[in-house]
Amino acid sequence: MKMKPSLFLQLECPLLVAAVFITGIGGTFQYGFNIAVMTSPSLFIKELVNTTSTERYGLPLEEWQLTLIWSFLVSIFCVGGLLGSLLAVQMGKKYGRKQCLLMNNLVAIVAAVLMILSKRAVSFEMIMVARFLYGVNTGVILTVHPMYLVESAPKNLRGTVGVTTATFSSLGKFFAQLLGIKELLGTEDLWVWLLGFSGFVALFQLFTLPLLPESPRYLLLNRGDQEGFERAVKRLWGSRDYSVETQEMLQEKIELQDIKIHSVMELLQSRPLRWVVLTVIVNFVAIQLCGINAVTPNSGGRVHVMFLWGLQAVAVGSIGRKKLLIGGYGCMAVTQMLLTITLNLQDHVKWMPYCSIVLIFLSIFSFSCGPSGVTMSLLAEFFTQSYKPAGYALACSINWVGLFVVGMVFPLLVKHLESYCFLIFLFFTIALATFVGINVPETNNLSPLEIQEAFRKMHSKTEKGGGPATPCGTTDNEIHGLKCQTKL
Ligand SMILES: *[C@@H]1O[C@H](CO)[C@@H](O)[C@H](O)[C@H]1NC(C)=O
Repeated sequence: MKMKPSLFLQLECPLLVAAVFITGIGGTFQYGFNIAVMTSPSLFIKELVNTTSTERYGLPLEEWQLTLIWSFLVSIFCVGGLLGSLLAVQMGKKYGRKQCLLMNNLVAIVAAVLMILSKRAVSFEMIMVARFLYGVNTGVILTVHPMYLVESAPKNLRGTVGVTTATFSSLGKFFAQLLGIKELLGTEDLWVWLLGFSGFVALFQLFTLPLLPESPRYLLLNRGDQEGFERAVKRLWGSRDYSVETQEMLQEKIELQDIKIHSVMELLQSRPLRWVVLTVIVNFVAIQLCGINAVTPNSGGRVHVMFLWGLQAVAVGSIGRKKLLIGGYGCMAVTQMLLTITLNLQDHVKWMPYCSIVLIFLSIFSFSCGPSGVTMSLLAEFFTQSYKPAGYALACSINWVGLFVVGMVFPLLVKHLESYCFLIFLFFTIALATFVGINVPETNNLSPLEIQEAFRKMHSKTEKGGGPATPCGTTDNEIHGLKCQTKL
């Protein structure tokens, strides 16, 4: 009974509940908020861009130029996100999770000041820099916030606490939309305060976060600070017995010491892993190009993709990964084909718009049933412990770069192709389903090494003169990594 993540237990550790709120509000809330915030003041921002250009450079802008700059303002957020997420791991290690989150708030505050002053200074460049800084802030948050929470929770609450990151992200999106209405901050005079709102949120976290202890796990494993660990744990978890967790952490540390962690370059250059890496890359690129971001504005699906992959991976556990991918993308291809037809008939047949809506819904549904969960679980399933960090960094980079590129290109594409834009996505979904069908073995219930072996078997036939194949690049490290993984 004691092991249940009940409300009772959560009330037993009030500081943990406080930690959830404090890190959440300054955490993934910011992500959701910044993803959604640009929509409502878009007209005012475009006006400012045009005014800046006219007054300062004497160049009134045309519609398409304005669209291009607008897309850039929205998407440069992702470039910052990439930088932030690449910095986050090192910073989190060096300064600790708490310090890292604290300093990160300063970035958001600087961004907010730039946003608030941009209109008075008649400078859309300030919005650009601020969006970039918000991106850096968010990139750090998406890495360190879940890390801090999961590390600070006792084992039986880890799942519950981890899911709150998704909750706060949705909350952020909701707030951005709420504050963006005309009655609140969505007006000609007040829109800069809407864009600067994140700064006040960051200010809140800057003053409340010092009340929380550093992540106990970090104190014990990275700092070797037994005393600090015990103090932090007592404060966070109350007076319950935590010897099991402590033992596990120490055990894990011993195991991880012997594993050589490979870099992204080593991952990309590894011959035995070539097809595994290619499959992962193709699948992550596919998420961007399959059109899901086009049908769910503000990349709404992404949050859940990012945070609930674990749950989905469990839910889809019994069906083969390969079948799910092919089925999911296959269904999407069919709906996209039909969508092109219904969108073209929209003006001639009265009830066609309803068909389009149903098809869009079906498309999202096929995506979330198959590809979204599977793609995220690929990382956990395909790589041994020694390659996992590199795998995550690679996937994360593809995600941010992809969001940027799609965010830049898609608005222009829609303008020119209109209802035919789904044909492009159709091409990519079919290509992907084909790639998976030909090049990826079924990997259900296999360990990373078995998966790599399955890939090798599948491709050794087609590769001529590959030389004597090393047994799937099995080094001592990887065997150890596997052992470690099954134990954890
Ligand atoms: C930009 O401003 C100029 C001058 O005020 C105006 O003529 C033009 O229509 C504006 N461009 C757009 C796309 O609104």
